[in-house]
Amino acid sequence: QQDLKSRLLELNKMAARYFYYQLRSENGRQGLEYLKSRQLSDETIKSFGLGFANKYSNDLYNYMKKQGIGDELLRESGLMNVDEAKGMYDKFWNRVIFPIMDVNSRVIGFGGRVMGDGKPKYLNSPETPIFDKSRNLYGLNVARTSRKKNILVCEGYMDVISLHQAGFRNAVASLGTALTTQHAGLLKRYTDEVVLTYDSDDAGTRAAMRAIPIVKAAGLSAKVLHMQPYKDPDEFIKALGAEKFQERIDKAENSFMFEISMLEREYDMKDPEGKTAFYNGVAAKLVEFEVELERENYIEAVAERYHIAFDSLRKLVNRAAMKG
Ligand code: UTP
Ligand code: MN
Ligand code: MN
Ligand code: MN
Ligand code: MN
Repeated sequence: QQDLKSRLLELNKMAARYFYYQLRSENGRQGLEYLKSRQLSDETIKSFGLGFANKYSNDLYNYMKKQGIGDELLRESGLMNVDEAKGMYDKFWNRVIFPIMDVNSRVIGFGGRVMGDGKPKYLNSPETPIFDKSRNLYGLNVARTSRKKNILVCEGYMDVISLHQAGFRNAVASLGTALTTQHAGLLKRYTDEVVLTYDSDDAGTRAAMRAIPIVKAAGLSAKVLHMQPYKDPDEFIKALGAEKFQERIDKAENSFMFEISMLEREYDMKDPEGKTAFYNGVAAKLVEFEVELERENYIEAVAERYHIAFDSLRKLVNRAAMKG
């Protein structure tokens, strides 16, 4: 098993090199143009090891065969599709390639993006003996050395790359999967604070809501960055630049207050009954702060935000506590 893993790592390194050189050859011209159109510099393209998968059929497969690589290893690598009728053939085809690295900068998998509007937008390596999506974060190999006070957790490849290019080398992404307990444990090794920097659409908001308890359970503090009116960090940076993004980081919302805002959406705040129900919901959440001073601080913050009396809210919380 250990031998298989090291052979897969070796194979991925070869594939990453191959894709990398294709991007710089005549074949990869469209890929390079695409990456430039997304405003990535040569330096960025190089430092993330971006590459290109040709459109010739079985280009990578044929290359690997010439290098003497056996079908068995290729099958295990996730770089090939295996089909009863068609046999084995390249998974990545006419796409720009994002090598995915572990914390030690070893290539464990790949993502590939269409150049334009085709579907699916991204293809990713399947899980293999060396690629466990729930235990790896894109960009963490760099972010771990960034010496910033927090880590920005965003959604996608392009978000991480754009952010790094703009100087936010503390950005990572969980690549289309929800943040897991293992991800949070990994983050905890390198930081004490996570800023959730997900897309501003509903999917991103839901992802943030799910991530908050997971991040907190790992003993990390969680904040939520507001991206509006932009869709994701990549678009934000392109529109407003790094300085404005830094302001948003500085203004990132306390995760409890963010949860309260989301809860608020479920009630009709123009109706006294709706409002009361909302405050009861808030009180039920405030009860969960076991340290009295912390609880009081949050009661104060909520009271301030909703312009209600501190004492009224505290009474409500005390009553919620009695009910257990
Ligand atoms: P998004 O749809 O937000 O894409 O998916 P994006 O990162 O903003 O991509 P660009 O800017 O259009 O290039 C977020 C992440 O979800 C995964 C990818 O990891 C992507 O970066 N994803 C998305 C997939 O794996 N497959 C898809 O088809 C779409
Ligand atoms: Mn998204
Ligand atoms: Mn996005
Ligand atoms: Mn995007
Ligand atoms: Mn509001």
